Amino acid sequence: MAPKGGKRAIHYPHPVNLKIARPEWIAVDEYFGGLLAPGDAQLDAALAANRAAGLPAIDVSPLQGKFLHVLVKMLRPKRVLEIGTLGGYSTMWMARALPRGGSILSLEFNPKHADVARKNLEDAGLMKRVEIRVGKALNHLPKIEAAGMGPFDLIFIDADKPSNPQYLKWALKLARVGTVIVVDNVVRDGKVADAKSQDADVIGTRRMTSLMAREPRLCATVVQNVGIKGYDGFAIAVVE
Ligand code: SAH
Ligand code: DHB
Ligand code: MG
Repeated sequence: MAPKGGKRAIHYPHPVNLKIARPEWIAVDEYFGGLLAPGDAQLDAALAANRAAGLPAIDVSPLQGKFLHVLVKMLRPKRVLEIGTLGGYSTMWMARALPRGGSILSLEFNPKHADVARKNLEDAGLMKRVEIRVGKALNHLPKIEAAGMGPFDLIFIDADKPSNPQYLKWALKLARVGTVIVVDNVVRDGKVADAKSQDADVIGTRRMTSLMAREPRLCATVVQNVGIKGYDGFAIAVVE
């Protein structure tokens, strides 16, 4: 259901999930995305560079990026922690919304992804507000704590899903009262509801959710979402 004439409102090549996504989800994503998250030379160039470099097409969608952007404008965070940079597309949406003096620390395992992200952010004039650290996030997080880099005001968890329980624990250690924690991809086409699932991503997400539910310092919910990436969702929590 792309607009007539073959011109898509959203330039987001995603061969796998475009098969999963229902046509009306795509049409609605393109409708709202075209109006509210239409992209521009820098955002479009970053997505194109990510695909040209062969990075997996698992960047947040434009509307999800805009969601993070709106969240940053609402919270006015001085320090943002992102776990899982990929090509820096989500980073770019957040960095553009930062208040004066705000910065993002983004952790990425794959050096190739980090290189592509650095170039995208450099080209967009945003690298002075972003630091990317390469390596396993679970190796960096203790060092970040030891160096006193926290507390972070917003933490976006979007890396390897089996580690989500540990990422949530680290997020709590690096948080203050009022810190907002967002976890991407908690629905996974509905697979998360299968208590018997052997899928490591589902198990990690379910354990992370139980921790969230049991943690008295957290007030949390999940927003399910559909669109060009298929059927997925964000967990959102605030530290009390
Ligand atoms: N936030 C990005 C998408 C991230 S995709 C966006 O929306 O644009 C997930 C990323 O997490 C991948 O780049 C992957 O290499 C990275 N990753 C996987 N395991 C990791 C780990 N142990 N530590 C840090 N990053 C990891
Ligand atoms: C996958 C990871 C993501 O962060 C995402 O948004 C979509 C898919 C994945 O690993 O399949
Ligand atoms: Mg994700």
